[in-house]
Amino acid sequence: MGARVAVLASGKGSNLQALLDDPAVRPSIALVVSDREASGALLRAEDAGVATIFLDPKAYETRDAYDRALLDILTVENIEHVVLAGSVRILSAQLVRAYEDRLLNVHPALLPAFPGPHAVRDALEWGAKVTGVTVHFVDEEVDHGPIVLQEAVPVEPGDDLDSLHARIQEVEHRLYPLALRLLIEGKLSVEGRLVHVLEGA
Ligand code: GRF
Repeated sequence: MGARVAVLASGKGSNLQALLDDPAVRPSIALVVSDREASGALLRAEDAGVATIFLDPKAYETRDAYDRALLDILTVENIEHVVLAGSVRILSAQLVRAYEDRLLNVHPALLPAFPGPHAVRDALEWGAKVTGVTVHFVDEEVDHGPIVLQEAVPVEPGDDLDSLHARIQEVEHRLYPLALRLLIEGKLSVEGRLVHVLEGA
């Protein structure tokens, strides 16, 4: 059996779509979990014939209880790798530890610049001339784990939030499938903060 990957996605799901559209990673995507019932991501997964679960945060009293339920699902489903694709929830330490070096996130800036949920707006308001995309492993701090891939994206004169985010997302849709492929093919090795991409990748 090949690698089994779960994607946690609650937004419009364009990164999930990019993963589903990549023939090298599509067969590994076993499950999409969302904490929002009416998310584009769930619809995209259903259209692609991938199993979906809506896990309702309102059904759990604490974030830890929610994440325990999520971890149970991932364990029962034999999930080896987890990919965050527009999942806004901050994961509990227990979940992060259970998937250490097996849990990816994509962030719309060049970390460590502009962490947090408003990275595109923050770069624009800062007057940055260059921002970008970071794919990183998730650790217990927000937008902090070892960096797998990064690519710069120019901020053009006259950019607004939508135009800059669209340019960033084009890069995300290329980088994220590549990073997941490297992960499932065992071509990433983590040494402290440094991620080595193994030869022949
Ligand atoms: C992406 O821009 C990603 O960087 C951030 O959330 C956004 C998700 O977009 N973490 P989508 O739902 O994949 O379109």
